[in-house]
Amino acid sequence: MKTLTVIASLVLVSFISSCGGEEKSKSETGTQEEPKSMVADPEAYDPKRGEGKYTAESLALTDKLDEAQAKVGEEVSNVKCTSCHKMSDEKLVGPGWKDVTKRRTGEWIMNFITNPDPMLDKDPEAQAMLELCLVRMPNQSLTDSDARAILEYMRKNDGVK
Ligand code: HEC
Repeated sequence: MKTLTVIASLVLVSFISSCGGEEKSKSETGTQEEPKSMVADPEAYDPKRGEGKYTAESLALTDKLDEAQAKVGEEVSNVKCTSCHKMSDEKLVGPGWKDVTKRRTGEWIMNFITNPDPMLDKDPEAQAMLELCLVRMPNQSLTDSDARAILEYMRKNDGVK
């Protein structure tokens, strides 16, 4: 009986660690082996900005909406994004876009949508979403101007006029 319980819990443990444990085991080994390059400068990753070329300065968002750009953003979204994202706060495959421009900075959004992988690998917020959604957002090969247009559409959706 005792052996059975032991076997059962071993099976359970290995199941848990194989299911969705990829990120975890990565960071666990990370703390032991990775450091050289990553911990050399632990301040290098800015969770407000994410990873990529966009900065608050380069974006220079104002509180005025560019209607024409938002319209382009809507069109591109309808082709590349709305199969997984709703404009409301309801989750589809990914989180709903309502208030995304309040949850995240413009530069975080731009860096994420133009190249999600590096951020899914290290951004705490992106990883938390991944844990809920269980799908890695695929790189949609957005051009800079399409990405910027989508951000404008998101801003419109969040009430920027
Ligand atoms: C195959 C489904 C899928 C497609 C297509 C997709 N996404 Fe995502 N998106 C996700 C998932 C899932 C997440 C949550 C993070 C993760 O698990 O990768 C996400 C997260 C996001 C986030 C962060 C949301 C938040 O609340 O912080 C933004 C912004 C985003 N996606 C924008 C886009 C844009 C823009 C497009 C189209 C160019 C797009 N997505 C296309 C699945 C998708």
